[in-house]
Amino acid sequence: MKLISTSSALELFLAAITFSAFARSESNDQPILSLSQDESFHFELLVPLGEAIYGGADVAPVLGAAENITVGNFSSFHEVFYTLAKATKAQAEDPANAYDPLNVRETWFATATYFRRADFYLHGDWDNPLINSLWDEQLNAFDHAISALPNPGKRLQIPADTFAVEAIWYPATNESSKRPTLIMCNGYDGAQEDLFHTLVVPALARGWNALTFEGPGHPTVRRRQNLGFIPDWERVVTPVVDYLLAQQADNVDADRLALFGYSFGGYLAARAAAFEPRLSAVLLDGGIWDTYQAYIQYLPATAIALLDSGDKLAFDKALFAAVQAPETSSQVRWGLDQGLWSFKTHSPYDFFQMTKAYAVKDFVHDIAIPVWIADGVYEGFFQGQSAQVKDALGPNATLHVFTGPAGYHCQSSNEIRASIDAAYWN
Ligand SMILES: *[C@@H]1O[C@H](CO)[C@@H](O)[C@H](O)[C@H]1NC(C)=O
Ligand SMILES: *[C@@H]1O[C@H](CO)[C@@H](O)[C@H](O)[C@H]1NC(C)=O
Ligand SMILES: *[C@@H]1O[C@H](CO)[C@@H](O)[C@H](O)[C@H]1NC(C)=O
Ligand SMILES: *[C@@H]1O[C@H](CO)[C@@H](O)[C@H](O)[C@H]1NC(C)=O
Repeated sequence: MKLISTSSALELFLAAITFSAFARSESNDQPILSLSQDESFHFELLVPLGEAIYGGADVAPVLGAAENITVGNFSSFHEVFYTLAKATKAQAEDPANAYDPLNVRETWFATATYFRRADFYLHGDWDNPLINSLWDEQLNAFDHAISALPNPGKRLQIPADTFAVEAIWYPATNESSKRPTLIMCNGYDGAQEDLFHTLVVPALARGWNALTFEGPGHPTVRRRQNLGFIPDWERVVTPVVDYLLAQQADNVDADRLALFGYSFGGYLAARAAAFEPRLSAVLLDGGIWDTYQAYIQYLPATAIALLDSGDKLAFDKALFAAVQAPETSSQVRWGLDQGLWSFKTHSPYDFFQMTKAYAVKDFVHDIAIPVWIADGVYEGFFQGQSAQVKDALGPNATLHVFTGPAGYHCQSSNEIRASIDAAYWN
């Protein structure tokens, strides 16, 4: 049943969007120095600064990029990082620098980070050839870097039922010794290469093995295998656990396998934990009770009514019009671009319907291992949902709320305290 007629809903929707939910926030309620007046750019500039601490970037070039990027202009964000990535790659390849292999390795890592940043805001046009060419550059740069680690990282394609998991194995030592192993995946947008500079380096420093992986919807699988997200994430994690226990039996302590999910990976990891009994603990950064509920918070009430009415054509038309309006924040515009691309649909209506399948509330009591949940006081995407997961799990879960400058989504740019807290929990 339609509650309101389509044309009036459209008008109401567009009016509401212009004046409320989608408008750029003017508030300056940041716990740290702002890197851009554009809230989304601020956060996406913090990401490489956070990765800098574990060798993913240099600080001054990122601050230089922040200085040069124009608010609200995705091409400008792309161009500034693309120029920086190409210049950094030229340094990595310059024979004059080859006398210091360690510096060359670090320069390749930074090159990969800048190519990933150059790609970040480009997913609105699936036919843009840069989506693949920038990614090939970042994979190539990253592979140069990990091949030069003391114990080189090993890229793997692990066969799953109808696809292959993209993974990288980082052994803790070069000798056979059964170690605890941290298995980890990213979420809505991050790459497994980002995880190297947030969690792999600190895991290796503590003598743990690390394995990062990507499944359908994640950057490399989306590109190479043309697959969008799937909710039944045990289809991704079970083959990874099989690989570790069979192929790395001499290096992996089978009783200490922890799975970590970043961001939207907080849903993915929880789902796998409910269906993969060989895991010994799961870490959710943060907890995701209900993805659909989290995402519709960006919609005005009129849009939610249109979504509920089932009028797909009207909803899609209205949403595209609203998202293209100049008042619409980069956060919302990017969020929709990335959601459509990573869930692989051209319809915003279908996208919102698909997100209904991604809810920890549907299987929370099937999680029978200890759960660690991270939340932040500035969490913007899944506000309040970590506490919902914790409440449902009771004593089976530990909730850690990060505050102050550490209080961003996924403790962005606060890697040291975040990893120390996670290690303490272990
Ligand atoms: C910023 O712009 C200046 C002036 O055009 C340029 O010299 C510099 O290389 C740019 N820096 C970055 C990191 O984009
Ligand atoms: C956005 O930035 C690009 C690249 O710097 C520039 O060519 C373009 O004119 C800018 N667009 C607007 C609307 O300012
Ligand atoms: C492991 O690395 C150490 C230090 O680099 C080296 O001395 C040792 O020979 C290596 N062992 C093996 C089995 O490769
Ligand atoms: C806590 O975990 C145990 C298994 O270790 C399980 O039986 C129980 O249902 C879990 N409790 C909740 C509230 O999910």
